[in-house]
Amino acid sequence: MANRVGVWIIGGLGNVSLCTILGARAAARGLTGKAAMVTELPEFRSLPLVPVGDLVFGGHEIRHSDVYTEAVQYQKLNGVPSRELVDTLKPDLAKVSQELRDGLLLNCGKPVAALANGRWSKGNKRELSLSEAVRAIQNDLASFVKRNGLRDLVVVNLASCEQPVDLKAMGSLKALEEAIRKNRRELLSASVLYAYAAIDAGHPYVNFTASLGSSVPAIEELALARGVPHMGKDAKTGETLLKTTLAPMFYMRNLNVLSWEGHNILGNRDGMVLDDPENAKLKLADKKGVLESILKNTDRFHTRVRIDYVPSMQDWKTAWNHIHFEGFLGTKMTMQVLWQGCDSMLAAPLVIDLIRFAELAHRTGFAGPMKHLGCFFKNPLGAKQHNMFTQFRRLVKYAARLAAVPAE
Ligand SMILES: NC(=O)c1ccc[n+]([C@@H]2O[C@H](COP(=O)([O-])OP(=O)(O)OC[C@H]3O[C@@H](n4cnc5c(N)ncnc54)[C@H](O)[C@@H]3O)[C@@H](O)[C@H]2O)c1
Repeated sequence: MANRVGVWIIGGLGNVSLCTILGARAAARGLTGKAAMVTELPEFRSLPLVPVGDLVFGGHEIRHSDVYTEAVQYQKLNGVPSRELVDTLKPDLAKVSQELRDGLLLNCGKPVAALANGRWSKGNKRELSLSEAVRAIQNDLASFVKRNGLRDLVVVNLASCEQPVDLKAMGSLKALEEAIRKNRRELLSASVLYAYAAIDAGHPYVNFTASLGSSVPAIEELALARGVPHMGKDAKTGETLLKTTLAPMFYMRNLNVLSWEGHNILGNRDGMVLDDPENAKLKLADKKGVLESILKNTDRFHTRVRIDYVPSMQDWKTAWNHIHFEGFLGTKMTMQVLWQGCDSMLAAPLVIDLIRFAELAHRTGFAGPMKHLGCFFKNPLGAKQHNMFTQFRRLVKYAARLAAVPAE
């Protein structure tokens, strides 16, 4: 019992969350291989990472449903994983459903507010003052830990992407705490309040989304003060992963990239939320700039990223990248890459990796942004390196250093 580690997912019924829970429970029961999990690579095998079977899930949600019903619906719409697997895991999913609690809606934007349904339509945390909401979130976390006899708890943000809010109340911990105390609701968003509550209570925190979460100076200060590791933001799972892997090739061959046009189409709930220009702002900002930092000769460079919602595609995403470049004697050439991926199946194994790395970081006394996890993010906190090869080497070095330290 004492070995079990809690995973508290903000957005517990979303697609990425469902695939994470299904994948973790399937792996725990030996019903699937470990493909796509970075932590299962030989480079990380000597690390004392928490076994996937020791993870216990709970979370906050604003929609009223249960994990099994949502997983069946996801399977029907997307054809993966098999219905047989979902049914086999039904008892495990029922246990997670019992650990879902009311979420907090605060300046998340119209498409997110419109998702709230059932008994969450009023959302009891909505009527609380900000201080009360922080306490209520912390009570949910504490009672989850107690009920399940957990030795640690990692909080992961997998909620819908919020619209941006003004950063003025988040420049320092003092300013943020004052805004909370004075109930200045207009100044903060849910992701920041969740991150504050989690880190203030001493829990490692991972922001998989483009929402602000722990990326603001006030929360970075809090994490150092509490000795808590955190990381984000916006996981690098598809198009940006491809870009930051391919761009070094153009650089290393001194090929002059003239334009890089990326067009993503997808039909899931995330795509629907991102169809609102306000809610897409933070995501588009995270995708921007990664190429410029790798391709250094960008004087004549043009780039653009589009995300379009195409409902019939559900969770299957197509990303088309058109790269126009100039080679020897000014010869212009083109590379086109078409990526067709199942959005949440690309994301879920990385969520499990991040949970395992965050728990290990906490156990080994690490505090602040986990810069060694930069390869997992589009906009890595405190580590502005985007080259996938350099980022991966950093993670391998971290693992080698840690593996060399004798366990207590
Ligand atoms: N799939 C990927 O490859 C990928 C990559 C990078 C980032 N992300 C981000 O991860 C997040 C999850 O993606 P998804 O496809 O599962 O989206 P989703 O819409 O299926 O899931 C989001 C869930 O969060 C819930 N939610 C929204 N606001 C909430 C709040 N304030 N409190 C509690 N719950 C809330 C929603 O009801 C929904 O169930 C999104 O922000 C997405 O942009 C996904």
